[in-house]
Amino acid sequence: MGTSFYRDTWADIDLDAVAWNVSEMKKRIPEETALLAVVKANAYGHGALQVARTALAHGAEWLAVAIFDEALALRKQGIEVPILVLSPIPPEDAGLAARYHISLTAFQKAWIQAAGRSYQGREPIALHLACDTGMGRIGIRSKEEAEDFINAVKKDPRFIIEGLFTHFATADQDDEAYFNEQYQRFETMIDWVHDLGVHPSVIHCGNSAATLKYPAEKRHLFNMVRYGVAMYGMAPSPEMAAKLPFPLKRVLSLHSRLANVKRVSAGASIGYGAAYHAEQDEWIGTVPIGYADGWLRALSGSDVLIGGERCRIVGRICMDQFMCRLPSELPLGTEVTLIGRDGDDAITADDLAAKLNTINYEVTCMIHPRVPRVFWKDGRKTGYVNPVLDGQKE
Ligand SMILES: Cc1ncc(COP(=O)(O)O)c(C=O)c1O
Repeated sequence: MGTSFYRDTWADIDLDAVAWNVSEMKKRIPEETALLAVVKANAYGHGALQVARTALAHGAEWLAVAIFDEALALRKQGIEVPILVLSPIPPEDAGLAARYHISLTAFQKAWIQAAGRSYQGREPIALHLACDTGMGRIGIRSKEEAEDFINAVKKDPRFIIEGLFTHFATADQDDEAYFNEQYQRFETMIDWVHDLGVHPSVIHCGNSAATLKYPAEKRHLFNMVRYGVAMYGMAPSPEMAAKLPFPLKRVLSLHSRLANVKRVSAGASIGYGAAYHAEQDEWIGTVPIGYADGWLRALSGSDVLIGGERCRIVGRICMDQFMCRLPSELPLGTEVTLIGRDGDDAITADDLAAKLNTINYEVTCMIHPRVPRVFWKDGRKTGYVNPVLDGQKE
C-alpha cells in the first residue's frame, strides 16, 4: 500500500484483535445467545465499517449503533445483518427505518402515534421496547407505560415488537446489589409484556461487563448480548481488569513522528503562555498532533514513548502540535507512540483515562476523525480511512 494520507499521525486498528475479542467471547456464551456488536460512535473511535465486518466474520450476528445516521451509513456500505439503533429516533424517520430494515428503540405511546401518522408505507417497522430498570435514561418504567405503549402498537399492525431490552448501570462494579435489583425489575417487566400478549423474539440486557462476568448463565443473558468495549480490547472498568475470563487484546494504538528536533538552552520557553522553561540545555521534539485531534490539553505534562523510552510532554498542548523532551538528538520522522506498546513499555487508554479522570471509552472516542485509521488484518495493512480527504486523494 502506498501513501494513503498526508500527515505523520495515525491510529493503527488491529482487526485481528477484534476477531480474537469477539470469537473468544462467542465461545463462552450459550450457542443460542446471539452476539450483537456495538459499533456506535464510529466503533468507539475505531472505524465502524471495518470493525462491523470483522465482528460479523467472527461470530457476531447483529450490530447496534446509537443514532439513525450511523445505521444508514452501515446499510449504504453494504451491511445486511440486523442493525439496532439504541436511542430513540425522530418519529418522522421511522419510514426510512422500515425501508432499510433497521430496528428501532421505542417506548413512548406518543412516539408510536406520531410515527404511525407520518409513515405512509406498508413495510413493518421493527421495534425493541426499552425498559428503564434503573439506568434512568430511556424506557418504560411502569406497567401503565407498558400497557399504553403496547396498546398503541396493537392499533397499528405495521409496528412489530421484535425485541425487549434494558441496560445496566453498574454491571462493571464489584458490588452486585444494584445490578441484581435491575435484573429482577427486568424479569418483572418481561412478565408485564408477556401478560399483554406480546412475545418479542429477542430479549437482551448484557453489556460487555455482564457478559464477561456471567458468560454461561442463560438467566443473565437471555438470547442476545450487546458487546461493546471488550470487543475493542478494553476492560469495562479498572476493577474488572484483573478478573477477565480471557485476556482481551487491545485494538487501537496511536502514533506520530517527530516533525522538528532542536537543542534549546536552559531557561528557553516552550509553547503557549510560555508555561514551560527548559530545566537545563535540552533536546526538544515537536509532534504533529494536538487537541483538535483529541490529544487534549489536559494531557500536557504526561508521557509519550519514543524508542521505548518515556518522554515528557512539555509546555501546553497546541491545537495541532505539542512539544516533548527528548533523551538525545533524534532523527526527524522518528516514531512517537502516544497509545500502545513501544519496546518493553506501553501507554494504554486506561492510563490516559486515569490521568484525565475519565474512562477508557472516552479516550478512544475522543480521537478525532481527522486522525487517519490504518487497518491491520492477518498482520498486514489492509486499508485506511481518511475522512478529511475522502475520495479526493491524488
Ligand atoms: C444500550 C447500550 N447497550 C450496550 C452498550 C455497550 O456497552 P459496553 O461497551 O460496556 O459493552 C452500550 C454502551 O454504552 C449501550 O448504551
